[in-house]
Amino acid sequence: MPRRKRYLFVCVNERPHGTPKGSCATRGAVALHAALKQEIAARKLASTEVRACTSSCHDLCWAGPSIAISPDDIFYGRVTLADVPEIVDALAQGRVVERLVLPERDFDPATADPSLPEHPASTPAAIPEAK
Ligand code: FES
Repeated sequence: MPRRKRYLFVCVNERPHGTPKGSCATRGAVALHAALKQEIAARKLASTEVRACTSSCHDLCWAGPSIAISPDDIFYGRVTLADVPEIVDALAQGRVVERLVLPERDFDPATADPSLPEHPASTPAAIPEAK
């Protein structure tokens, strides 16, 4: 496979719901990564233009879901599924979605904009009792 022009590293780190920092996974990052992969493939950009990878924590948990973009050296934050088409449009055109680029204040939880809400926790399946 050739080297792609860009690599997206979608943080999918997960912490339990309700922890102070929260996590990207509890704000929808796993589905976000899947949707990016699907949209990139549908537009036939996967082999040459961009690859969407998962990553662990970027230490931007309060601003998640976060995506590190290489080689642009920027981070998108508070990304939702609704942003996927615009992100992939921009990738196809070699652009950046400026409204999603985290400003310096978002790198410090004390000065960051408000976090997105966590998605509801899924109810664990009942574990059958041993007989
Ligand atoms: S959990 Fe995603 S940046 Fe920390």
